Amino acid sequence: MPSAGLFITFEGIDGAGKSTHIASLADAFRAAGRHVTLTREPGGTPLAEKLRDLVLNDAMDPLSEALLMFAARRDHLQQVIEPALQRGEVVLCDRFTDATFAYQGGGRGFDLGVLRQLEHWVQSRPGSEQLRQPDLTVWFDLPPSVAAQRLAAARAPDRFESQPQAFFERVAAGYAARLGEAPGRFARIASDRPKELVWQQVRQAVEQRGWLQVSGAAA
Ligand code: TMP
Repeated sequence: MPSAGLFITFEGIDGAGKSTHIASLADAFRAAGRHVTLTREPGGTPLAEKLRDLVLNDAMDPLSEALLMFAARRDHLQQVIEPALQRGEVVLCDRFTDATFAYQGGGRGFDLGVLRQLEHWVQSRPGSEQLRQPDLTVWFDLPPSVAAQRLAAARAPDRFESQPQAFFERVAAGYAARLGEAPGRFARIASDRPKELVWQQVRQAVEQRGWLQVSGAAA
C-alpha cells in the first residue's frame, strides 16, 4: 500500500498508445487536487536522459544495454521518484523495470537471473525489506501485429522500434510473465479498441483501487 505517495507505471510494446492516457490521468489527478510528477524511463533526470540517448541509438551488447537501463533507473529513483513519493505526490512513470524484463529479458533473451539481481540492487530501500515497486502498473496490451501497423507510419525508428514483429511477440510474453509473478500490481488493458474505451479501462483500474474518483474523459 502506498504510505506517502502513489507510484503508477505504464507499460506496453512500442505503438501501444500509452501517452494520451498518461496525460489524461495526470490531468485527472491534478483536478482532484494531487501534485503529479510525470516522468519516463529510460530518462527523467539529466544523467538518465543522456543514458537514454545512448541506449536508444548506439549499438551495444545486451549486458551493456541492461546495465545502462538500470543505471538510468537508479539515478531516476534517487533524484526524482523517491523524493516525489516522500512529498506525497502521484508519480506517473512511462515505463519502469517491467520494461527491462520484457525488452531485455523477453525481447533480447537476456538472463532473467541477472535482471533480478540488478532489480534488487537498484530498487532496495534503506531501512526497508521491500524493494521499491509500483503501486500499480497499467499494461497497455496490444497485439504486436496491430502495433507494427502503427509503427510503420511513425517517425524514424530507434533501436527498439526497428525490431521485427517476432521481437515484440517476445516482449509481450515478457510482460505476461511479469504479470503472472505479481498479478495484484497489474491492470491489463486491452488496447486494440477505440481510445475512449481504453481510457475508461484506465480510469476504472485507478478508481477500483480507491485512489481517484475520475469523472472526466480522455483529453
Ligand atoms: P518509449 O519510446 O516508450 O519512451 O521507450 C523507449 C524504448 O526503450 C522502448 O522501445 C522500450 C525501451 N526500453 C527497454 O528496452 N528497457 C527498459 O527498461 C525501458 C525503460 C525501455
